[in-house]
Amino acid sequence: MKNLSGGRLGLNARTSGLGMMSALLLSGCATVPPPLAERTEAPSQVESGAGIANPEIWPAYEYPVPNQPEDEAHIARLLSSMTLPEKIGQLIQADLCCVSPEDVREFNLGSILVGGNSGPYGDDFAPAPAWLSAADDFYHASVDTSDGGAGVPIIWGTDAVHGHSNIIGATIFPHNIGLGAMRDPELIERIGAATAAEIRVTGQEWTFAPTVAVPQDFRWGRSYEGYSSDPELVASYVGAMVRGLQGPADGDNLLAGPYVLASTKHFLADGGTDNGVDQGDSSISEEELRDIHGLPYRPAIAEGVSTVMVSFSGWQGRKMTGNQSLITGVLKERMDFGGFVVSDWNAHGQVAGCTNESCPQALMAGIDMYMAPDTWRDVYADLLARAETGEIPMSRIDDAVARILRVKMRLGLFEAGAPSTRPLSGQYDLLGSAEHREIAREAVRSSLVLLKNQDILPLASGSRVLVAGEGTDDIARQSGGWTITWQGTGLENSQFPGATSIWDGISSAVEAGGGSAQLSPDGSFTARPDVAVVVFGEEPYAEFQGDRETLALDNALTGPYATMQRLREQGIPVVALMITGRPLYVNPALNLADAFVVAWLPGSEGGGIADVLVGDSSGAARHDFTGTLPTAWPLTPDMDDGALYDFGFGLNYGSTANAWADLPEIEVESAGDTRVWFANGTVPSSWSLLVNGTGDEAQTRITGVPAQALSGRVRVTAENFVVQEGARRFAVAEGTSSIHLRNFNPLNLDRETNADIMLLTTLRVFDAPDSAMLGSAGDTSSGMINFPMPQTNGFVRYGIPLKCLRTRGADMTQVNLPFVLTTEGETDFAIGEVRLGMDAEVILACE
Ligand code: BGC
Ligand code: BGC
Repeated sequence: MKNLSGGRLGLNARTSGLGMMSALLLSGCATVPPPLAERTEAPSQVESGAGIANPEIWPAYEYPVPNQPEDEAHIARLLSSMTLPEKIGQLIQADLCCVSPEDVREFNLGSILVGGNSGPYGDDFAPAPAWLSAADDFYHASVDTSDGGAGVPIIWGTDAVHGHSNIIGATIFPHNIGLGAMRDPELIERIGAATAAEIRVTGQEWTFAPTVAVPQDFRWGRSYEGYSSDPELVASYVGAMVRGLQGPADGDNLLAGPYVLASTKHFLADGGTDNGVDQGDSSISEEELRDIHGLPYRPAIAEGVSTVMVSFSGWQGRKMTGNQSLITGVLKERMDFGGFVVSDWNAHGQVAGCTNESCPQALMAGIDMYMAPDTWRDVYADLLARAETGEIPMSRIDDAVARILRVKMRLGLFEAGAPSTRPLSGQYDLLGSAEHREIAREAVRSSLVLLKNQDILPLASGSRVLVAGEGTDDIARQSGGWTITWQGTGLENSQFPGATSIWDGISSAVEAGGGSAQLSPDGSFTARPDVAVVVFGEEPYAEFQGDRETLALDNALTGPYATMQRLREQGIPVVALMITGRPLYVNPALNLADAFVVAWLPGSEGGGIADVLVGDSSGAARHDFTGTLPTAWPLTPDMDDGALYDFGFGLNYGSTANAWADLPEIEVESAGDTRVWFANGTVPSSWSLLVNGTGDEAQTRITGVPAQALSGRVRVTAENFVVQEGARRFAVAEGTSSIHLRNFNPLNLDRETNADIMLLTTLRVFDAPDSAMLGSAGDTSSGMINFPMPQTNGFVRYGIPLKCLRTRGADMTQVNLPFVLTTEGETDFAIGEVRLGMDAEVILACE
């Protein structure tokens, strides 16, 4: 891939990006609380200061789900018969990574979840029947009363955020940002219903959806999970989605019908953090908090949403998970929310005074269930100990348990029997059924937004079409994050049985009309085409990985611009088709192409794109464009420079094409992932690449190459990787040598560590050393593991889970040597890239 602008790495614009986050986290979270015995006073209930809401200024709603007298009597009976440990168990949700049916039997856990990277029986790619059989295993363990317990059945939550998106073979709907372009609540309800049905096939009862974020800064990597930046548009969808998933607002016995529990997330202002920093802080006023981010709760409550997930983020310096005024005062009391509140993945650990293992503050703030994926044993033991001493009042525990039981009763869980015996269970033909795929395809058609058309589209189906660019025949790429894997990376088309790529859709449409199509990622062709469709845009990402410094498409992804340019020079009309989770500065593509279509993240039904782009043989459209922008499109990488296209813009086949006035093009300096620490032979500004030896040997900072270090013991040269001279090669003659990446403001990688992110190092080893160690360090600690470092024929991307470095002793909150590679003896190797991520080719063992 050619890097057009020389590939400058940038942490410059938001240098503070990571630094700023660390500062926030450090001030908001004392990581080491005093031991239990020393913390005798009850968690504070009297709040004062910034970040305290005044519930009176919020709208009052009415929760429509009636409390059934029989259920209330049942709840009262259970509360009086359950032991304290059983009650605490109900408050805990563990991830499948780290819990067994035996644990559920022993600890009476209220819920399990499957995180983005987990799956039944340790297999993220487990086939559908394994999900159902695991659901049965956990269910039977939960209702086992042989130990004299109450046997409250368990519920299983999953991130079915765009279809039952963790499951191979499921229908993958467009991500929410694309749905926002449709302006069609009725279709949203059908998507919700189809998703619920697919979830029920594999036995889960609960989805962590819909995301009702109202993203205000699209540098936020989770922006695509929100429908729109417009609160009214988001609100117009939320009721429909909740109804599609859960059925009627006052509905009872959900499991008897084709329904699941919904969860609106993330309460509140996940999309309102300053600078769009994931899990960051929002400094907006309470009125903005209410009117922008609070608005979607009007329809959520009106439709009787059963659960609400609280955000990782904070408001005015206070983490939501510990904010009693918002969770209890606003949501439960003022808005009358009658379901239960679940926290996010170890989010309690970020509350001031808390750790991942201990946070009674969250319960006191109003969290009813702790998502404690891998920390559940500690959280359970801690809550139990505090309840036993009376530090946590029984009334709060009973209220939380009652809320959870009430939702379980509404679900009909006590009568439903084992998951495999319920309606729709095991009907695997419903997963990715033709009917569901047709709904998804309709959504794809309706979500496309046409930004430019100089009378090129629709393509006549009889034409000769070249399909070029990146991601043309790549279902994972067109599906984005939260698809089978957490980040949506590391997948192949074979893992999407029944799905249709963009290429599949275009080629079958033109072939059906007597035309022909050629797939050619680099744009070269054998027979001169009448027209070319050039696909380009973002690659999949989810939390953390998606945050950017600016609203520019990463430089590394602009390769297809050159293809557009070349085709244009050859006189071939170009249709640019952009896969993206957000609006980005792409003026060069808008200028180069004759037509420009935003496809967002369409999911498994790529055929919907050809339905609109390819007309009939006479060239007349089969379907028109109806999508319009769900948020403004930027003129430059900085939204402060204003919009190129306003919210609501979108052309159709009736629009008249005016002469195109070229848009300004600017050099994009700081595109790229802030978690890339070494690429294209350089480090981010204010970072250093250093070579260190032993004892008093002077360290050498490597700026240009060739260079020498350690009195000539190490020679540093350039090596090709991705781009010309994109790697640095180190030839070590003998002895100890240590390659460091140093940054002067220590990074706080705590959140990334909790999320199982990896340190990725792409290396080619020409001559293996005697031994090597790889890891990260700070001034006061280091985490290093033995690295076998075998000779390789090409570059290999090795991954070490950050968690492993923490286990090995690194303080991940204070990292100023994020990368250390120490070798012993003669060796010769090249480093191509160092970054954080999930897509390792080889995961190193953490002995
Ligand atoms: C995300 C949630 C998700 C949960 C479970 C969290 O990290 O923020 O949106 O539901 O993980 O996977
Ligand atoms: C899990 C995700 C979760 C994330 C938390 C990942 O390891 O697979 O489900 O959302 O961590 O940040």
